Amino acid sequence: MDTLEELNSKGFVEEKIDPTLDLFEEIEKLKKEKNAIVLAHYYQEPDIQDIADYIGDSLGLSQEAAKTEADVIVFAGVHFMAETAKILSPEKTVLLPDFKAGCSLADSCPPHLFKKFKEKYPDHVVITYVNCTAELKALSDIVCTSTNAVQIVESLPKDTKIIFGPDKNLGAWVAKKTGRDLVLWNGACMVHEIFSREKITKLKSRHPEAKFIAHPECEEAVLEMADYIGSTTGLLKYSINSDAKEFIVATESGIIHQMEKANPTKTFIPAPPNNNCACNDCPYMKRNTLEKLYLCLKNGLPEVTVPMDIIEKARKPIERMLEISASLGL
Ligand code: 13P
Ligand code: SF4
Repeated sequence: MDTLEELNSKGFVEEKIDPTLDLFEEIEKLKKEKNAIVLAHYYQEPDIQDIADYIGDSLGLSQEAAKTEADVIVFAGVHFMAETAKILSPEKTVLLPDFKAGCSLADSCPPHLFKKFKEKYPDHVVITYVNCTAELKALSDIVCTSTNAVQIVESLPKDTKIIFGPDKNLGAWVAKKTGRDLVLWNGACMVHEIFSREKITKLKSRHPEAKFIAHPECEEAVLEMADYIGSTTGLLKYSINSDAKEFIVATESGIIHQMEKANPTKTFIPAPPNNNCACNDCPYMKRNTLEKLYLCLKNGLPEVTVPMDIIEKARKPIERMLEISASLGL
């Protein structure tokens, strides 16, 4: 068994697993034994989505984390999501299969720099996208996700001055949708910035009937071409409700698993990145594997913790988001 130091440097418990073990069965057994649930984001690998008790977008996952009665939450997602679960349920044990499952967008906004930025706009309300560290949430007035960002901004009086961070692309899209003038932090997600407008144009001309659907973390040049823009849940719902038979999907490729399950007769084409690698796979989300999930549940490690003073400060803006979302039926 690793020491805590070894575990932290690798990010996960390294242990040989008997290759004849049925991990699906073993994980089910451990879930019952430990009163644990597995929450998984749509960007996780298909096996993890299939073993999860709940699969969803960032809003759904935080709503689920707030209401679960399980003692242990295994968060099959990235670090900021597991932190959010811990902030909402501090008495529970929150496990992350790979501790190094971070986020380029969260990394693009170091809290000490954001604090200085915020000081330049003392009369502004601070709205932060949930894809940020717990420390950043503690510096915020309201948190939002891509499902509710527009409604959260609109819930404030028209003349409210607003800082929006850390995602400049989501922020610019929300500013356009709401007609509000937002002060944006210059952050972005490496996965959603990689899509190529030129290659999408070519793909669209080869599939003229296909709907092009995109996540609002994409750049404006890509969003301008979209038939529909929305969170991962929004994109999934659109794929179900639309009569189209083909879809070009500009977000992390993991969502396609649920799209194909829900629409077995429709075709989903991942939007091409601007090079030849599979860059629309999030390298952080994909650090989690079924093997790591099994070991983390078995060993109770790695565990995500958040200092109590940060929990207290970060909880209010997250709860404010959950209250506004509930009042709007989101
Ligand atoms: P949503 O699933 O909330 O749309 O977020 C997408 C994302 O980038 C999560 O990291
Ligand atoms: Fe972060 Fe982008 Fe990965 Fe989402 S897809 S976890 S925003 S790096």
